[in-house]
Amino acid sequence: MSDTSVGIDAIEMHTGKLRLDLAETFAPKMGDDPAKYTKGLGLYASSFPDTYEDIVTMGANAAHRLMARKGLEPEDIGRIDVATESAFDQSKPVSTYIAGCLEQVFDGDFHHANKGERKFACVAGTQSIDDAYNWIRAGRNRGRAALVVATDTALYARDDPGEATQGAGAVAMLIDEDPDLVEISNAQGYGSADETDFLKPNQQFPSVDGKRSVQVYLARMREAVIDYESVAGKIQPDEFALLPFHTPFPGMVRKAAALAYRHMIRDTEVEESLADEIGRQPRPEAFDDDGAYLDAMGEYTDRLVETDAYADWYERVVDPTLDISRHVGNWYTGSVHVARMSGLRRALDEGIDLTGRQLGVASYGSGAQAEVHAETVQPGWEEEIAQLNVDEQLEARYDISFAEYELVHDVHNYDEETDVEEFTTPSEEFVFEGWGRMGERKYSYVD
Ligand code: HMG
Repeated sequence: MSDTSVGIDAIEMHTGKLRLDLAETFAPKMGDDPAKYTKGLGLYASSFPDTYEDIVTMGANAAHRLMARKGLEPEDIGRIDVATESAFDQSKPVSTYIAGCLEQVFDGDFHHANKGERKFACVAGTQSIDDAYNWIRAGRNRGRAALVVATDTALYARDDPGEATQGAGAVAMLIDEDPDLVEISNAQGYGSADETDFLKPNQQFPSVDGKRSVQVYLARMREAVIDYESVAGKIQPDEFALLPFHTPFPGMVRKAAALAYRHMIRDTEVEESLADEIGRQPRPEAFDDDGAYLDAMGEYTDRLVETDAYADWYERVVDPTLDISRHVGNWYTGSVHVARMSGLRRALDEGIDLTGRQLGVASYGSGAQAEVHAETVQPGWEEEIAQLNVDEQLEARYDISFAEYELVHDVHNYDEETDVEEFTTPSEEFVFEGWGRMGERKYSYVD
C-alpha cells in the first residue's frame, strides 16, 4: 500500500436544463403555502431534464467539460465508475454509454479503462470515490486517474410528498494522485442497517416513507459519526471549516447540523460557556427511562439552535454548502458533492483561505447507510473552483409552467407515451436520440 496523497483533483457539474419554481409555480397548484418550500424545506427551485436529456447526457456533459478543462485524453483515465439510482438497464452499465459519448469527442478510446456502476441510493457517489481511492492507493492505476460520475433524475410519482424535493443533474469528479482540490483521509466511519425508508423494487419511482426516512437519515448519521471518532478521535467544534451533508433538501441538513453541533460541543469549553444560558446537555445516567432523556435532549437542542454560538457556527460551516441545492433540488448520488462544491464556491467568493483546512463530508443513502470522512483542502482549490460555471448553467435554465412540468414528468415516465417538443436548443452537448434495434439508447454530440 502506497502512502501517496489521493483525492479529488477536479470537479464539474451539469444541471438538467429546465427549472421549476417551487414557490411561484408548484406551491399554488398543490394548494401549499410557498413558505413550506422556501422556509420549511429550504428549496426555491428544482432542475429537470429536457426531453433530450437523461442520466447519460448529463453525466457525459459534466465529464466532457472536466476532461477538456484539465487537458485529459481517454488514455489518462484508467477507470470510469458511475453512481446512479436512475439506471435504465439491468446489465449494461451507464459508464459504457458515457465512455461511448466521450469517445465521440476525444481522440483515442477507453478500451483499457475498468468501467462499472455503483448502487447504494445516494451514498453510491461517495462509494465510487472510495473505490477509486483504494485502486490508486493499492498502486493498480498505472499512473492513470479515475473518472467518477454521479448522475440522477430524482423524480417521484406525481402527488407523492417527495415531489417537492425532485431534481436532476450530474457531478463528474477526477480522482487522482496529488490532487488539486481535496485530499481524502483514510479514516472513515459507517452507520449502516437494513432499512425500508426509501426503495425502488424494480420500479422507476421510489416507494418512500418520508417522515421515517428523515429519522433513519439522522440515526445512521449518528452511528457513522461515532464510528468515525473511534478511528479519528473526537471531532472538535471547529475542526471542520465546512460540513457538506447529503442534501435531499436543505431543511434535512438543518436537522442533521443541530445534532452534529450538539454532539461536537459535548464535554467541551463551548458546552461550558453556554451552560449559564441554556444549561448543560442532559446525560442518560440522570434519567430513569430513555423517553424522558430524549425529551430533555430535544428541549436542550431547541435552546441550543437559538444561541448566537450555534448561529455563527451554522452560518460559517453549513449554510455555504446549501447555496446550490436550494436552486436545484435533490440530485441523489451527486447531492453531497454539490454541497462540497457549493461550500468551496462560497469561500472563494468571500475570500476565505481554506488551504490546509479540513472538510467533514457526511454522505447518506437510503436503505440505509451513512459515511463520514475528512478531506484536506489543497493549494490548487481556488483555481479549480474559479473555473466552474455553476451560475451560468443555473441562469440558462428554461423556466417551465405547471402545465409544462406535467408534460416533462410524463416524458421521463417510462409508463407514459408522450411526444413533446424540446424546450431548449442543445448546443455543444450530448443528446439522447432514441432507441436502437436491441433497445439500447443512442446518443450524439451536437456542435
Ligand atoms: P411533507 O409532509 O410534504 O412536508 O413532506 P411537511 O409537512 O413535513 O413540511 C416540511 C417542512 O416544512 C416541515 O419542517 C414543516 O414544519 C415546514 P420541519 O417541521 O420538518 O422542520 N413547513 C413550513 N414552514 C414554514 N412555513 C410554512 C410551512 N409549512 C410547512 N407555511 C418530506 C416532507 C421530507 C417527508 C417529503 O418531502 C418527502 O417524502 N421527501 C422525500 C424523502 C426525503 O427526501 N427524505 C429525506 C431523508 S432520506 C434521504 O435523504 C435519502 C434520499 O435522498 C434518497 C436516497 O438516498 O436515494 C431521499
